[in-house]
Amino acid sequence: MALSNVRLEVMQTIEKKVDGFIDQYLIPVEDIWQPTDLLPDLQKENYAEDIDQIREEAKELGYDFWVVLVADMVTEEALPTYESWLMDMEGVEQHGKSRGESNSWAKWVRHWTGEENRHGDTLNKYLYLSGRVNMKEIEKTTQYLINDGFDIGTGRDPYRNFVYTSFQELATNISHKRVGQLAKKKGNKMLAKMCNIIAGDEMRHYMAYREFVKTIFEHDPSEMMLAFHDMMKKKIVMPAQFIRESGEGIASAFENFSNAAQRLGVYTTEDYINILKTLNNYWEIDKMRGLTDEAQKARDYLMKLPDRMTRIADRMAIPEDQHKFKWVEPNGTL
Ligand SMILES: [Fe+2]
Ligand SMILES: [Fe+2]
Repeated sequence: MALSNVRLEVMQTIEKKVDGFIDQYLIPVEDIWQPTDLLPDLQKENYAEDIDQIREEAKELGYDFWVVLVADMVTEEALPTYESWLMDMEGVEQHGKSRGESNSWAKWVRHWTGEENRHGDTLNKYLYLSGRVNMKEIEKTTQYLINDGFDIGTGRDPYRNFVYTSFQELATNISHKRVGQLAKKKGNKMLAKMCNIIAGDEMRHYMAYREFVKTIFEHDPSEMMLAFHDMMKKKIVMPAQFIRESGEGIASAFENFSNAAQRLGVYTTEDYINILKTLNNYWEIDKMRGLTDEAQKARDYLMKLPDRMTRIADRMAIPEDQHKFKWVEPNGTL
């Protein structure tokens, strides 16, 4: 219990800075882009031409590409899962006990959710207009994913959760950016722009979450180090770990999607290792002083982990066979 009380105290101390973090890393509603800024305006006379263009450009994109874009979209659309998970963290007060109002951490979670909600919205509308995917199957997958929930191994611990979100926001920045590059290469400018602008949001979010962790390191270095170590030892699981197709159990859909992402180079084991290196560097864990013996061991483990993972990754082969998903009609070219 003593442990969690310290965490709560740290969260309460940092809470005073959270309004500042919101101003620094998030963008007010009136200034930020909305999905329709990037999509055809259906109130226009010649809207059909724009839709024809989307459908025409979509023909150039291959099977693995669609699988990855669908799974990325579904992952974004499971946002209710992530919001409720983060709202449940220790130190987040949706209904303040003493003041009868929510605290700044709850405000952060709501505002972050508000920004994130535009991502699934944008990609969903694009996929619908592209005419290349089976929307009903995709919609079922989204509903299943929300029904099934997830377990990312953080519990209600804010330290572990902020390691997770730092990692994940950078991972989504990378994958959306790469999807955008592939789209651009195939001459699909509209989709490239969507992916890039979404990747920009993910970058801001990553910068915020890594700052939360850095601030916690200043207050509670040993416990923060142990939390980081624990998350990396367990491996960061993806938010869509339980994704599935209609009529199927939670078995292989995530792996098949992940193989497609590796084949395309959208998100690879190398990226995972690079994210870990980036976080190690940003949090300057090599320079951290005043750690307990246990936390020092945790730090040593984290410092060596990238090399260890690289050696294992070198021996791993990515399966070449494409799984046929119900989401995508099998007439792609890639
Ligand atoms: Fe997102
Ligand atoms: Fe995100």
